[in-house]
Amino acid sequence: MSEQGKVAFVTGASSGIGRATAQAFIRKGYAIAMVDRDEKAGREAEEELRPLGECMFIACDVSQDTAVEAAVAQTVSKWSRMDAAFNGAGIDGEGGMTADHAEAEFDRIVSINLKGVWLCMRHQIRQMLKQGGGTIVNCASTAGLVGTKGMVAYVAAKHGVVGLTKAAALEYARENIRVNAVCPGMINTPMWQRSISDEMTAQLLEGDPIGRLGLPGEIAEAVVWLCGPESSFANGTVMPVDGGFTAQ
Ligand SMILES: NC(=O)c1ccc[n+]([C@@H]2O[C@H](COP(=O)([O-])OP(=O)(O)OC[C@H]3O[C@@H](n4cnc5c(N)ncnc54)[C@H](O)[C@@H]3O)[C@@H](O)[C@H]2O)c1
Repeated sequence: MSEQGKVAFVTGASSGIGRATAQAFIRKGYAIAMVDRDEKAGREAEEELRPLGECMFIACDVSQDTAVEAAVAQTVSKWSRMDAAFNGAGIDGEGGMTADHAEAEFDRIVSINLKGVWLCMRHQIRQMLKQGGGTIVNCASTAGLVGTKGMVAYVAAKHGVVGLTKAAALEYARENIRVNAVCPGMINTPMWQRSISDEMTAQLLEGDPIGRLGLPGEIAEAVVWLCGPESSFANGTVMPVDGGFTAQ
């Protein structure tokens, strides 16, 4: 089904899962606000997608409320509405065990990965209330469903994203706004390549059910489905897309 005429707001659109999601939305016919703090990569992504449909890069740090408010306003000023939003911007950051995690880094990870999602949601929801509805998908992680050692702030923030998703899903269901989350497993993106060596990847895949990394496009397809009319009864859903990792 084509979603021609609809508008989507995608954070983290300069790279990895967000970039693939912007591409999947535009192929479906959505006009896309591509939101990211990395302006250089964002402009490149915008150039790549332009032949496929309407898109606009907006430089924005999702942990800054006024920047998020302005990004939503810019989107609505251009296209008059916002039907769908994917909150994908995030960082892995410097990990650490509970007793040793650096405090400033804990704050940075939480302010982008958790508070940033809330800031985006609140401005998206304000617009969706005005126009009579919309759909939001937040990017959590398998680290939002189960613990993992050595990255306590990331795990806590991603569990928090699951909580934000469920709470907002209950609050706005009667206002025709659905809020869902995807929980990607190990996905081959620039974030993965920057942080995990080939040797470590091979070790992690040894015990993994599907035995390979996921592709950004495999998350994007789930996001577009959760944002579209085909998933009309899905609300507060927290969907692992992880090759079976959390089924173990
Ligand atoms: N790659 C994985 O294995 C994996 C697994 C589970 C969840 N995730 C989550 O998926 C999302 C996307 O990750 P990815 O692997 O595509 O990473 P990536 O680094 O390739 O892309 C993340 C994008 O977010 C942007 N970003 C970071 N902080 C920002 C901020 N404060 N404001 C605006 N933009 C910001 C970056 O500039 C980048 O373009 C993240 O939320 C990540 O936690 C990734």
